[in-house]
Amino acid sequence: MEITVKIFRYNPEKDQRGNYVTYKLEADPNDRVLDVLEYIKGKTDGALSFRRSCAHGVCGSDAMRINGRNRLACKVLVRDVGADITIEPLLGMKVVKDLIVDMEPFFDNYKKMKPYLINDSPLPENGRERLQSPEQRARFDEATKCILCAACTTSCPSFWASDQYFGPAAFVAAHRFVFDSRDEGASQRLMVLAETDGTVRCHTAYNCTEACPREIQITKAIGELKMAMMTGKID
Ligand code: SF4
Ligand code: FES
Repeated sequence: MEITVKIFRYNPEKDQRGNYVTYKLEADPNDRVLDVLEYIKGKTDGALSFRRSCAHGVCGSDAMRINGRNRLACKVLVRDVGADITIEPLLGMKVVKDLIVDMEPFFDNYKKMKPYLINDSPLPENGRERLQSPEQRARFDEATKCILCAACTTSCPSFWASDQYFGPAAFVAAHRFVFDSRDEGASQRLMVLAETDGTVRCHTAYNCTEACPREIQITKAIGELKMAMMTGKID
């Protein structure tokens, strides 16, 4: 099928502002949007810049707006988006070049959640591991699926209003450890979440949940964090 692909282009060394360049090409309906970008870069326009790594929905590096929705380019087929495709960088982040955005502020917010196990207690008697039941493990399982693609945070109206907002991806990282029975850092994380740029800015728009390529129930996770902050109970 013939497709028309309109891509946002911006080179800070040459351009005052971004513009759109349109390409017409033949594609198989089963091609992924990432294949289309690779084809354009390889055959037509070597300067086109975008991130990608695994090409299988695992690394999270190729999140971008495809026909107005945040998606992973490697997980979207041409037949799913049609013959007219518009590709733009994620909203609310500084564009470095074309479809590449500056992810540093995103990862700074992620780090604020202390995304690692905090437990200074002596190891249990077996001396090797802190045991956990399957139910305790299941409590935070969903949050472990996050690939830090930023599709959620950059689809959130609160983030568009202020890029200081920690954002849903950071909250998912907090949820991963707050509800881990082996972790002892919940109170530290809940204090961070209570800051002005924390969960109070979440207005339950559900955009994050709809955007997540891993189908993580982000809004529910944020609700559980809010409840833990209000009641002081982690269960
Ligand atoms: Fe991406 Fe989902 Fe993780 Fe947000 S929660 S960063 S959308 S994988
Ligand atoms: Fe890794 Fe798409 S390239 S998730």
